[in-house]
Amino acid sequence: MSLPHGTHVIHDAITLPAPHDTVRARAVHRAEYPVVLADSVEEAVKHLRTVVPDQRIALVTDDTVAALHGRELRHELHRQGVVNTMTTITPGEESKNLRTAERLLDWLADSRMRRRDVLVAFGGGVVIDTAGWVASAYMRGMPYVNLPTTLLAGVDAALGGKVAVDHPRAKNLIGAFHQPTAVIAATPWLATLPARHVRAGLAEAVKKGVIASPALFELIERDLPEILALELPILHRLIHGAATVKCALIDRDPYEEDLRRPLNFGHTIGHAVETVTGYGPVLHGEAVAFGMACAARISHSAAG
Ligand SMILES: NC(=O)c1ccc[n+]([C@@H]2O[C@H](COP(=O)([O-])OP(=O)(O)OC[C@H]3O[C@@H](n4cnc5c(N)ncnc54)[C@H](O)[C@@H]3O)[C@@H](O)[C@H]2O)c1
Ligand SMILES: [Zn+2]
Repeated sequence: MSLPHGTHVIHDAITLPAPHDTVRARAVHRAEYPVVLADSVEEAVKHLRTVVPDQRIALVTDDTVAALHGRELRHELHRQGVVNTMTTITPGEESKNLRTAERLLDWLADSRMRRRDVLVAFGGGVVIDTAGWVASAYMRGMPYVNLPTTLLAGVDAALGGKVAVDHPRAKNLIGAFHQPTAVIAATPWLATLPARHVRAGLAEAVKKGVIASPALFELIERDLPEILALELPILHRLIHGAATVKCALIDRDPYEEDLRRPLNFGHTIGHAVETVTGYGPVLHGEAVAFGMACAARISHSAAG
């Protein structure tokens, strides 16, 4: 049967319910993204190009990482034809706040970044948490890629999409879940990491061994001298193992609906230590190490 001229047929037309039926909204979001461990900056940028083939990049880092590794990364981005603009924040937990976030939002707007352009967080957990939160807010969410440069960020902060800035009342008080498009670490970046930050990062790896993986714990025990000496192949194995454990845990509960979440081990006391000391003097990993020791003692004495 032919339709009269001018008739328009909507194939997926939405019918209206009875006036008193409950209207339900549903928004299901599950993300999947690659976690890549590259052995060179060139390889890291090649991976970046596969996930960001032709968008512009807004690169956020801190002054220390920019001074140590910024020039090489930008040279490689340029060589591989990735258009980018860069800004830096002051290093350290003191920067992980709304003031820094607001400055980054201004910079994105001034740089005329659009919703499909990509923010790249290049640094430790502070850069990643702050830039990730900014990415979650800018134009209601722009894509971002994490390039972790600390052990702590490689084994933990770069994964899972928990992004936040601190508030004087509590750590990570202002935050969101916003999953990255990819996580790409280049092990040579770790070669310049100061010993104190290696130990702090190790705390988050030990945590994962204790809560979920005897194999990871044994690896850390066995290879500790090489880890502390920053032997890159061993660090590669450690990050690979710890990232695997974290990804398996977040796969079970990506938006932390279970309040007894094991990844929080050591953080109840750890976060309190960071807050009362004013964010900065005690590193996050150090606070977590202390928090885990306290929690273990409490549980041991409660059991006995
Ligand atoms: N989102 C999450 O799931 C998650 C998980 C764990 C921790 N975190 C957060 O991560 C933060 C801590 O991260 P962090 O320990 O990486 O701190 P950070 O980002 O402050 O980095 C530590 C220091 O190392 C410097 N640095 C970074 N890379 C370097 C390199 N390659 N060589 C030399 N110096 C380098 C930085 O400039 C900084 O001074 C905390 O705010 C914590 O709350 C978030
Ligand atoms: Zn932590």
